[in-house]
Amino acid sequence: MQEVEFEPYDQGFAANPYPTYARLRREQPIFYSKEFGLTFFFRYRDIYRLLADKRLGRTMDHLLSAEALRQKHASPEWSELPNYSRYVRVNLLESEGEDHARVRRLLSQSLQPKRVMMLTERITTIRDELLSTLIPAQHMDFLAEYAEVLPVQLISELLGWPDEDRHRLRPWSSAIVRLYEKNHSAEDRRKAETATAEFAVMINELANQRKLDPCEDLISALVASEDSAGGLDRDELIATCMLLLNAGHEATVNAAGNGMLALLRHPQQMALLRERPDLIESAVDEMLRYDSPLHMFHRYVLEDFEFEGHSFKQGDTIGLLYGAANRDPDIFDLPDSFNIQRKPNRHLAFGAATHFCLGAPLAKLELRALFSGLLARTRDIELETVAPEYHTGLVFRGLKELPLRWRT
Ligand code: HEM
Repeated sequence: MQEVEFEPYDQGFAANPYPTYARLRREQPIFYSKEFGLTFFFRYRDIYRLLADKRLGRTMDHLLSAEALRQKHASPEWSELPNYSRYVRVNLLESEGEDHARVRRLLSQSLQPKRVMMLTERITTIRDELLSTLIPAQHMDFLAEYAEVLPVQLISELLGWPDEDRHRLRPWSSAIVRLYEKNHSAEDRRKAETATAEFAVMINELANQRKLDPCEDLISALVASEDSAGGLDRDELIATCMLLLNAGHEATVNAAGNGMLALLRHPQQMALLRERPDLIESAVDEMLRYDSPLHMFHRYVLEDFEFEGHSFKQGDTIGLLYGAANRDPDIFDLPDSFNIQRKPNRHLAFGAATHFCLGAPLAKLELRALFSGLLARTRDIELETVAPEYHTGLVFRGLKELPLRWRT
């Protein structure tokens, strides 16, 4: 088999993965990597088709009967699993079939667009409070001081997380999401395990409190479901809260940072957005397409099949490069141009089909608020560094920091 050049954990790739994606889309759009133990896909059309294909799934578990699965979860091996493996296996993103539909139904009531729109006012208030202290300083790290604070506060308020423990969320979440990357070390695993264990204890305690004394928050709604048919069990509840807390800010922070850098590198687009604030919706979609914060998700092959001349066997893993699909010239005109007026813009930054991001309306609302607020209160935003650095990663794409200065 022909060797394919693909080094996604190199600094060069982190700085700019798009020329590599373009080459692979042209020359090897589907290839098996021995190093990663999976087959990568780079073209939009292939990825879109595969996301809707029922012969693929996020887990092999739902091939088991309901009874076999119950037995598996009740087994001593299951309860002895490390915390990370135990919770990650029952979260929404890692479930399929009936379990997935049941949990998604429950959760989508809380995250549906109409409900989320009601948060607009709260988002604006949090953002304005932040900006009132940040703007006079005339410089900040856009990520740590601004883009990260809003999503963390919002998701923790939504869940009903205590204010005094909010500072623990970001370090826990960063430690846990490291394990999504293939190049994590034994030390990363140990840290993620500790973070998951601490996180789980805290969610469990909160759930117990809310069971006795319910409030208007998401943990209360989820814990109330425990006693009804089709409700969550305690492991699922912990896993769901953890997924929301991780998904709820990790991707949003990186989307904001990557989007801000795109604006800075395209001053005419930044000027256009200042002139035409009504373009914020399409601008945010273009930021998500142009430099997506999540580049790859995997699927397992649930039954043997052929695809574009390649054979796949049950149990194989595939890697879908949403980040490459979003620059596919077969779908997007001038895909490497950053055009805040792009229409249509059917990017895959939020995935598609069964696992389409449940938090997409909330994430978009937050991103629009972050950018509209900052642009309205500043002039001449500039980078305070020559070359902002990206973390290396195949799954997550985000900057280490983004120091900015401006005039008012
Ligand atoms: C810009 C920010 C965000 C991006 C780019 C993003 C992206 C994604 C993607 C690509 C998936 C699908 C993964 C797959 O195909 O395997 C996903 C799933 C999910 N996201 Fe997001 N997300 C963002 C923000 C959020 C927020 C704010 C929340 C919650 C408050 C959230 C909650 C979820 C959940 C619960 C799922 C699992 C859905 C399922 O499996 O049915 N996300 N997200």
